[in-house]
Amino acid sequence: MNEDVIEKVAEMIASSKYIVAFTGAGVSADSGVPTFRGPGGLWEKYSPEELASPWGFQRDPLLVWKWYAWRMRIIERAEPNAAHKLLASLEREGKVKAVVTQNVDGLHQRAGSKNVIELHGNIWRARCTVCGYKWILKTAPKDEELPLRCPKCGSLARPDVVWFGEPLPRDALERAIDEMQKADLVIVIGTSGVVEPAASLPLMAKEQGARLINVDPSPNRYDSVADIVIRERADPFARKLAQRLNINV
Ligand code: OAD
Ligand code: ZN
Repeated sequence: MNEDVIEKVAEMIASSKYIVAFTGAGVSADSGVPTFRGPGGLWEKYSPEELASPWGFQRDPLLVWKWYAWRMRIIERAEPNAAHKLLASLEREGKVKAVVTQNVDGLHQRAGSKNVIELHGNIWRARCTVCGYKWILKTAPKDEELPLRCPKCGSLARPDVVWFGEPLPRDALERAIDEMQKADLVIVIGTSGVVEPAASLPLMAKEQGARLINVDPSPNRYDSVADIVIRERADPFARKLAQRLNINV
């Protein structure tokens, strides 16, 4: 990635009034959190049907919980990287208005982002399958504590995340659509763009006139529509951009 590209991105940021970030697993990859697709991705080794579907959970709640607890332990040890931090800084400066994320790891919030719209839920929240009560998990549960039970009614609980075949939380989807409609620049970072309806959100913004920056070391769905494609990992890209913008990350 040459300096011209960073210069162009800096210019696009400066000339935008309403920037929205759209992130996926790739934004957390440099923090050590595995992605789902691509080399070393979770779906190479694990089955989405068994571990991330209502059917899989019904079949073996303990197996599903153990997999989520294992991911929580990875996330617990992870730190936000320069990309998370840069987005949080740009929000404090009033440039970035929202971060719409497919991630459940909470790293955007830990970096300081405030307006984070979580389309796929949050791994640090559990939800009762019977009474719907939700609560926050402060640390990853130990395997012996699994599957978690509802503190209110004692029924089986589940991770409060969206699984395949489930609808997105309505409130989050509506807020995300609203932000995309207001956006004049969407910065897409680290998503393959294959899981709908989330993946269409940046395209919606694009159709309404927003410019699109696509940051991903591998080709993805947004390459053909993006105004700039940045073939770079999120952390080094954000470091270079932060340096150009005089922002500490
Ligand atoms: P994916 O795993 O599908 O895609 C990750 C993207 O990040 C790929 O395009 C990678 O090339 C890119 N990538 C890898 N390393 C990167 C790095 N260091 N910096 C920047 N980009 C990098 O993840 P998502 O698109 O988020 O859903 O997946 C969407 C949904 O599918 C997830 O939310 C999850 C999954 O199944 C549910 O669990 C419902
Ligand atoms: Zn309950």
